[in-house]
This record gives sequence, C-alpha cells and structure tokens, in this order.
Amino acid sequence: MVTAEFSPYVKTGGLADAVSALSRELRRSGDDVRVLLPFHGSIQECWRRDMRPLPSPFSVHLGGEHWGRIHELVEADGLRVYFLEHHQFFDRWRPYDDGYRGYEDNPQRFAFLCRAAVDLADFLDWTPDVFHCHDWMAALVPVYLETVARRGRLCSTASLLTIHNIAHQGYADRSLLSWAGLPDWLYCQDKLEACGGVNVLKGGLYFANKLTTVSPTYAQEIRGAEFGCGLQDVLQFRGGDLIGVLNGIDCELWNPATDSHIAAHYDSKCWDGKWICKDELRRSCGLEIRPSVPLFGVVARLHWQKGLDILADALPWILNDMNLQFILLGAGDGQLEEHFRALARAFPGRVAVHIGYDETFAHRIVAGCDFFFMPSRFEPCGLSQLYSLRYGTLPIVRSTGGLRDTVRHYDERTGEGTGFFFNDLTPSALHGTAGWACHSYHNRPDHINAMIRQAMDLNFSWKASAGRYRDCYRWALGAKR
Ligand code: ADP
Ligand code: GLC
Repeated sequence: MVTAEFSPYVKTGGLADAVSALSRELRRSGDDVRVLLPFHGSIQECWRRDMRPLPSPFSVHLGGEHWGRIHELVEADGLRVYFLEHHQFFDRWRPYDDGYRGYEDNPQRFAFLCRAAVDLADFLDWTPDVFHCHDWMAALVPVYLETVARRGRLCSTASLLTIHNIAHQGYADRSLLSWAGLPDWLYCQDKLEACGGVNVLKGGLYFANKLTTVSPTYAQEIRGAEFGCGLQDVLQFRGGDLIGVLNGIDCELWNPATDSHIAAHYDSKCWDGKWICKDELRRSCGLEIRPSVPLFGVVARLHWQKGLDILADALPWILNDMNLQFILLGAGDGQLEEHFRALARAFPGRVAVHIGYDETFAHRIVAGCDFFFMPSRFEPCGLSQLYSLRYGTLPIVRSTGGLRDTVRHYDERTGEGTGFFFNDLTPSALHGTAGWACHSYHNRPDHINAMIRQAMDLNFSWKASAGRYRDCYRWALGAKR
C-alpha cells in the first residue's frame, strides 16, 4: 500500500481509515501487506516509540540524488508499516497544507514517496506482487513501474490505482518530470500533460494496470463531465479497467457495543444506551436537555465538497420552523468555520459548534445524535454515513456517489429504509428533508425504530470488499502479464 495517510498514525479524512481497515483485513487473511507512508511531523510520540529505524538510509532515484530513511513499525498482527523519513519534505505539522494553502512542493514531496516505494523493494530485498496506490499522492508509482523501473526486480509487479477523490489531482509544471527522473516523452496529451503542465493523477490513470474507485455509483459518475473533474475522457478511455469497490468500516473501532469513546454501550437489540450517549453529549456541549427533541449532527471536513455552506444557509430557517437541536464538529474553510460559530451564538442551547479535529468527539456525536447530515456536492464513498448507520443515527444525505450505494431511502408506506435522501442541494431541499425527518421522529416512532434496527443490522465489514480487492490484484497481475 502506498498512501499519504494511514489510521491511527495520521488522518485528515476517510482515506486514512479506508486504507488502514483494508490493509488490516487483508493481513488477517494471511496476506503479506506492507504499507509505505511519509513520516509526517504530526505523528505522535506514542507511535514513534514503537518504531525501529532501519540501519542505513537509502538512495531514492529521482533526477538528482535524494536519501530517505525508513522507520519500521511491526504491529501485533504482523502488519508492517514503513514510515519514510525526509526532514525537508515530511517533517511538517500538517500533511498537505499550512492551514491556508497547499504546500507548493506537494508534487515533489509525493514524487519522492512514489520513487521511494519503487526503490524500497531492492533495499528490503522484497518483491511485492502488487502495488496498491491510493489517490494522486501515490499515482506516480505506476508511471515509474511502466517506464524507468520497467526492468529488474519489479518487472512483473502490477499496479492498482484507487481513486478516493478525483477532485485532487496534483498539478506541477513540466520541470517535475526531469526533477522526478522521468523521461520527457511523458509530456504529451495521452500521458501526463494537461493544460500546459503535468497532471500527476492523469499519469497514474494511464499507466496503472487496473483502476478502482470507492463506490459503484462514483465509478459511473466520474466518467461524465459533472464529476470527472476534467479526467472523464481518460476514464472513458480506460473504462473497461475501472470498477467501483465499496469501502467497508473497521467494525472493531466503530462498534457501539464496545466503543471506549462513548458514555454507554448498546446494540441493535437494545439501544437504551444511545439515550445516555445523547444526554451526555448535550450536557457536555451546553445544549439544553429537552426530552423528545431530535438532535441532528455533522462531523466533516469543512470543504466545498461537503455542501455544508448550503446547510449553514438553511439552518436559521430550519431552527425557526422546527423543534430540533444541532451539533457540528469540523475544521477547514475559515469563513464556514466563522459562519457556524455565529449560528451557535445566535441559537444558544440549541446549536453547538466545535471547530477542530477530535476523534473521541466524532465517536460521541455519531453515537449521541438521532440524525446525521451529509449534504455532499459529491461523495466518492463516504465513511461517516456508514459509521452513523452502525450507531443507529439515521443519515440525511444528498443522493450522490457512495451515499446512494449505502443508504436506503425511507419508504413511508412500509417503514423500510435507513435514511432520508434529497436531490437538489438547496436550502429549501434541506429544510424539507429535515422537516420530514422531524415529523417522522414525532409522529412515526414505530418507523423510526424500525429504521434504526435495519441500519444497525447492516453489515459494512471489510470482509466482502477485501475479497473484491484481492480479485482486483489478480486482475491487475493478469493485465501486467
Ligand atoms: P472524507 O474522507 O471526504 O473527509 P469520509 O466520510 O470518507 O469523508 O471520512 C471522514 C472521516 O473523517 C470520518 O472518519 C470522520 O469521522 C472523520 N472526520 C472528519 N472531520 C473530523 C473532525 N473534525 N474531527 C474528527 N474526525 C473527523
Ligand atoms: C475520500 C472521499 C470519501 C471516501 C474516502 C475514503 O476522502 O472524499 O468519500 O469515503 O476518500 O475512500
């Protein structure tokens, strides 16, 4: 696995959870999984203590000479995690940006990660069958494998590239190629060139043996102009090599019956513990404890993707018309952070807003709320709605990407379903759907209870999807041969 994030060591969103849970599931089935990620400056001391630096640094064959050093951490189940140390590139507090804008040298930093992944095989004297590369940050691995590293130890190693989010592609100017030790003939329309520069993800999409993305619906959506972010033609060209494999969740970490972060435990047979979680959450956040008032929650990166700007616009209207409470945990866009803070000031006791990143608090919101908002503009898979379902917190989602593949729309006639869908990302659609959820909460408790039970009984474990990835590895190896 070549990745920029990996839980629990470094996480900014679902990528870290997805790669980590998949790796652990494969390892459990006996595969020799090894993970390479940058030794980010934010990795905490408690993890550093368990790492062992490999004796010598190794040379990474970019255009010029660069050296990396590996710190190895062998987990209890035998999973090997390699942290790639490079003081100048990775010893930074945040993985991709300084809080305001992306680091200018991101293409160089991740080219270094990719070339190190390739050079590591010789250094470790270990030949992987497949490199599983995640997002643009790992997309140069297939490019190296099919060009300058074509012969030698890795001549029959295949590559699988998974798109977790096509909106991030990695742009650089042409000089990245020579800097990264890649031939200049790659600079053309059907390789890495795009808009007069280099598009790193595009290169990966052309050169990987096979491609996946994280839900079947998103696999279709990105072939069109609306969601393809300019790469739809490449994906149509490689259409036969692209499939969607739905993410799972780590059912040990996200389990309301055992979760150490939450106030009380519960399961799908008896969820009395959920009401204790709800009260505890409200108390700790300064929300009024009012019986039979539904609590709506959000845990998300505050990014345009998530559609929370529209939710912020709709909230005063929703709160004026309906008897509900709202809680948000998130960080990102400064203006949106301020907008939500202002809402908390305007509706004391009814709105709580926590700006920041807090894993424990995320679990407590997922457990303690009745409904969970995800009004995403696009959502490749989404893990938060999967966590919510497992905790009996009914998702209210826009009908897009993985949200469509994982949430079942409420059927008022039968009480079947696991959440509420809406199509248009407008304040009025959000107002209408929140109203429907509120109405059902007060007037259809039998349906709400049936939905909670159905949601909690769903199985989103990684087992099935890990099996599909194993098939994809074979598929990629076949293509390589
Ligand atoms: P994305 O990867 O696009 O952010 P996902 O739904 O796949 O969306 O995954 C988001 C993950 O990040 C979830 O595990 C969620 O709990 C977590 N997360 C997002 N923001 C925060 C935050 N501010 N504090 C704690 N966890 C967060
Ligand atoms: C990305 C996507 C999210 C997905 C996650 C893990 O961050 O935005 O939808 O769940 O990757 O695959």
